[in-house]
Amino acid sequence: MTQQHLLLGQTLAFSGDPFQTAWEDVTHHTRRGAVLIEDGRIAAVGQAEVLRAANPQVPVTDYGDALITAGFVDAHMHYPQTAMIASWGKQLIDWLNTYTFPEESKFGDPAYAADIAGRTCDLALAHGTTTLTSFCTIHPESVDAFFGAAADRGMAVVAGKTCMDRNAPDTLRDTAQTAYDDSKRLLQKWHGVGRATYAITPRFSPTSTPEQLEALGALWAEFPDCPMQTHLSEQVPEIDWVKRLFPEARDYLDTYEKFGLLGTKGLYGHAIWLEDREKARLAEYDCSLVHCPTSNTFIGSGLFDLMGLASAGMRVGLATDTGGGSSFSMLHTMAAAYEIGQLRGIAVHPAQLMWLATEGSARALHMSGEIGHLGTGAAADITVLDLGSTPAIKQRTDRAEHIWDAVFPTIMMGDDRAVRAVWVAGEKRLG
Ligand code: GUN
Ligand code: ZN
Repeated sequence: MTQQHLLLGQTLAFSGDPFQTAWEDVTHHTRRGAVLIEDGRIAAVGQAEVLRAANPQVPVTDYGDALITAGFVDAHMHYPQTAMIASWGKQLIDWLNTYTFPEESKFGDPAYAADIAGRTCDLALAHGTTTLTSFCTIHPESVDAFFGAAADRGMAVVAGKTCMDRNAPDTLRDTAQTAYDDSKRLLQKWHGVGRATYAITPRFSPTSTPEQLEALGALWAEFPDCPMQTHLSEQVPEIDWVKRLFPEARDYLDTYEKFGLLGTKGLYGHAIWLEDREKARLAEYDCSLVHCPTSNTFIGSGLFDLMGLASAGMRVGLATDTGGGSSFSMLHTMAAAYEIGQLRGIAVHPAQLMWLATEGSARALHMSGEIGHLGTGAAADITVLDLGSTPAIKQRTDRAEHIWDAVFPTIMMGDDRAVRAVWVAGEKRLG
C-alpha cells in the first residue's frame, strides 16, 4: 500500500544556483505551502489548498508558520571527533596530535564506535541535518559502525575509512597495502547498499606516504563512481609541511594529482590557500570544494573565498567539519559563512546560505535531485524550522517584512531549538 503524508507550512525551494543567477529568480517561497510525501519521496510541492483538495484521504501534519525546507546536507565532518568537539587552544597540527589522534585511536573498539556513530547521527538529526559526509578512522570497525547507525535511522550518508600510514601514532597507522585492501573491501560491502555511499578517504598528504596515495589513486581508478574525500590547503604551516614532505610537487594539489587523486568526484575540504594553478586544475576537473567556516575560524585557518569560487561555477558544499568545527548546527555554519563573507567585504545572501546548506552540498556530492532538494522525485529528507524559536529571534522575526528578513535571524541566531521536525526518507524522525 502506498504510504502518503501531507506536510503544511511555509515552503522554501530552489530551482537553480543563486551564485549563478539572481536569487529572486531561483528561490520559491510559498506562504501557505504543502509537500506531499509518497513512499519516502516527495511526490509534489505546491499550494496547501490545492494539494489538500487533490488528496483528501492523505493524513496531514500542519506546521503553521514554520518553514519546510530540504534537510541540511553536511558535506564534510569527522564523526569520531564528536566527543572532543570544542577542544581548546590549538591550531591544526597540534590540535590533531593533542586531541584528535588520541580520540580516534579508540575506534578499533566496535562498541565505542557504535556509541559515537549513533550519538553523531542523533545530534545531526536534532540539528536538522539529514545527510552527513564523514571521515571515519583507520579502523574498519569505525566504518561499519557509522554506516550501520545511519542505516538504522534511514539516513543517506557518505563515508569512508580514513587512511594514514605516517606522521600519526602507531595506533592510527595502516599501510599502503592495508589501506587499499580495507578500503576496497568496505567499498564493496557498503557502496550503494541502501542509502550508503562509500568515499575513498586519504586523510591528507602529510599522513600518507606516496605509496599509499598511489594505492588509493589506483583504487579510485577502479571505482570512479565513488567519491574521494580529503583535505587541501587548510592552514599555512600545513602547506609548508606538505612542501617539505613532497619537495618535487608543484603545489599541495599536485601531491594528489600525481597519484590519481584529482578527479571529478573529488571532495576537497577547506581549500583556503589555493594557488592559481590549483584553482585552474580544480575547475578543469569540475571538483568539489567544501567550505568549513566554523572550523576555519575555530582552528584559525583562514577565510575561504566562497563568493569568488562559487560564482566562478565551482561546486561548493558547506560543512560543519565536526570536531575541528565548533558546532553540529548547519545554521551556525551558515552564520559563520556569512561572517567570513563580511570579513572579505561580501554580504552572502540568506538564499545563497540556505542553498549552500542543501542544494550546494548535494551538488558537491553529485547527489543533486536526490538529497538537499525540496522538489518532486527527491528523497523526502525534510527539515521544518521554527522561525521564532527563542524570544530574541522571535522579537526580530515579528518585524520581518519578507521571507528572507524572517529567515536570516534564525540563520544567525538559531540552533537545535529552531528545528521543529525532521523527516528522513518520508519517516518522521524528530518533532
Ligand atoms: N586535516 C587533516 N585531518 C584533519 C581533521 O581531522 N580536521 C581538520 N579540520 N583538518 C584536518
Ligand atoms: Zn576535516
